[in-house]
Amino acid sequence: MRKNKKTFENQISILTLDDDPIITSTIKAYFNRSGYEVDVENDPLKAIERIRESSYDILLLDFLMSPICGDQVVEEVRKFNKDIFIVLLTGHKSMAPPVKTIRQLDIQGYYEKNERFDQLELLVESCVKSIRQMRVIKEYQESLSSAYMQTIDILRNVVETRDKETKGHSERVSELAAALAKELGMDDEKVEKIRIAGLFHDIGKIGVKDSILLKNGPLTPDEFEEIKKHPVDGERILSEYSPFKEMLSIIRQHHERYDGNGYPDRLSGDRISIEARITSVADSFDAMISNRSYRKSLGFEKTMAEIERCKGAQFDPNVVEALQRLVNKLGTDEFIAKYCS
Ligand SMILES: [Fe+2]
Ligand SMILES: [Fe+2]
Repeated sequence: MRKNKKTFENQISILTLDDDPIITSTIKAYFNRSGYEVDVENDPLKAIERIRESSYDILLLDFLMSPICGDQVVEEVRKFNKDIFIVLLTGHKSMAPPVKTIRQLDIQGYYEKNERFDQLELLVESCVKSIRQMRVIKEYQESLSSAYMQTIDILRNVVETRDKETKGHSERVSELAAALAKELGMDDEKVEKIRIAGLFHDIGKIGVKDSILLKNGPLTPDEFEEIKKHPVDGERILSEYSPFKEMLSIIRQHHERYDGNGYPDRLSGDRISIEARITSVADSFDAMISNRSYRKSLGFEKTMAEIERCKGAQFDPNVVEALQRLVNKLGTDEFIAKYCS
């Protein structure tokens, strides 16, 4: 036997279940010789618990057992474990469950017991191949998602370093926008997309001069024109990174107004993506409730009144109502603690 084969197969754990101890010890001895680790169980009910508590890769189980049969064991196991590979062993063809049952229970292999185990070993080998492929895919997905999270952290640092005065603004907008999306009944995937886009909605501001971005007082019209470039700049900055593709409308459109008087494209109503309409309410809410160097916070009551006043003009009425519902549900104090600090 090749050494590397043995090393790999040692990482595969097998549980063999049969109410006949002679069968299980024979299987164990056979597969041990081939380099596999095998645990033995002769009680079907105990086997279910062992699978629940350990992480077996393969289950080799008998069909006819008491107090419950193999197909019932599989039915129980599948309720909490969809990954384990299962090979069903039967004494005689005529005693086997119908193919329909085998498919329904997601059983990967079926073996008619006989003196020779080489056919069973072939079945196990094909399970091992699939398990190995699944592990590679899982590792790849994990490395991708950690690279993605690192990218998000880097970008978040970029935003915060550049715009110290509004530190925390992006994170609060992100949290509030996600809560509004949830309140509006959006699915988890969309909510997450809105949360992440909220973190970077102002990333385009890294292109704005310090003298304007950090200015201590109201902006001149020319200076305001400079600031107004940040949604388009932000979209361009993030456009190269494919995981953000879906979020670009939020970045570009978060200063559009429901009545069409916003920027950069003067879109109105439903032509502004719902994600951007949500982020816009969260963004304006946070801007009004926060202290700036050139003006004080409006305070909670006035901020909410201002948002109500702009319902249907600057803001999508449905989103404004979702904000009001959220405030009512949580109560003012809890809402402020959660989204304003
Ligand atoms: Fe902005
Ligand atoms: Fe903002």
